[in-house]
Amino acid sequence: MQVPIIDLVSQYKNLEKEIDNAVKRVFSHSYFVFGKELESFEEQLSKYAGTKFALGVANGTDALLLSLYALGIKEGDEVITTPFTFISTAEVIALLRAKPVFVDVKEESLNIDPNLIEKAITERTKVILPVHLFGLCADMKSIIDIAQKHNLKVVEDAAQAIGATLYDKMAGGLGDIAGFSFFPTKNLGAAGDAGAILTNDEKLYEKIRLLRVHGSHKKYYHQFIGFNNRLDAIQAALLSVKLKYVDSWNKRRREIAAKYTSSLNTYVKTPSEPEGYYSVYHQYTIRTEERDRLKAFMNERGVSTAIHYPLPLHLQLAFEYLGYKKGDFPVAEKACGEVLSLPVYPELTDEMVDYVIETISGFFS
Ligand SMILES: Cc1ncc(COP(=O)(O)O)c(C=O)c1O
Repeated sequence: MQVPIIDLVSQYKNLEKEIDNAVKRVFSHSYFVFGKELESFEEQLSKYAGTKFALGVANGTDALLLSLYALGIKEGDEVITTPFTFISTAEVIALLRAKPVFVDVKEESLNIDPNLIEKAITERTKVILPVHLFGLCADMKSIIDIAQKHNLKVVEDAAQAIGATLYDKMAGGLGDIAGFSFFPTKNLGAAGDAGAILTNDEKLYEKIRLLRVHGSHKKYYHQFIGFNNRLDAIQAALLSVKLKYVDSWNKRRREIAAKYTSSLNTYVKTPSEPEGYYSVYHQYTIRTEERDRLKAFMNERGVSTAIHYPLPLHLQLAFEYLGYKKGDFPVAEKACGEVLSLPVYPELTDEMVDYVIETISGFFS
């Protein structure tokens, strides 16, 4: 049996008619940039996430970049974040010539450890940027308490967490502003790059609405220097189709995750989901010291896996200039040697899930 790490063709086949109709509709009116497709998606998304505003943008990286830019982050500022994430999270800080300040993650969740945040705060700190890694919310209650105490803003990197909740509040509506990614493999995936910003702050919303279109409030009139990072109408139309299915897809991911956890927790460290948290398992990531051998063993038997992430951000060449060294963030560093993401997506059949479990138990026995 072959079990790929993701299967976007099956996802398309299941929705073929709806997707084709949506794309045809866009071509039939041919408003490809802005217009009602985008407005309608933004309305549905803000309703879904429970925020006042949603803004479609070109990708998840731009969502974070515009959020920080709109908050006024600039050279000399510091933004606290996690070293155990995709590079975008810290890249956007550096792009604005501010300084990414890393804080280690918690052993159980691999999300930023709030107990270590206060020590990293200086008079230059402006923002805390937690990531809801693998679809599990960061400890936002503690993070927001710290932010309020020190007068900092909280930007959520919710790229991997659409539909996740923390005490029934949706990821994306927990901080001051949030970025989603709709990269094709995400729980809600576009046909290419796409992203969104969510906020309840009208001023930030109004600013970003113009920022994403060259600072323009009226065609060829520019209030300030901006960017070009809008969400295309075709992507918006497609995402509107798929948004309706996100909750049921996430449920199926959780079902698979529950089966993995109950079958595998004697062999490997399985992901935790503390009380009050609702993970959407963007990744189902196990941990074992035998990671590399297990990965090769599974690969030989047709099961694809992935490593999220092999190297923490503080040890990336791109961030060498920050002066961090090995040993600075031991929890993140250790995780990089042990993590292995298993196939987890709604289209996986029960037989495939059983086969993944059999393969892993076969390795350990
Ligand atoms: C945690 C995290 N942040 C940001 C991003 C950036 O999103 P995009 O690839 O849409 O730019 C991703 C996507 O891979 C991500 O996983």
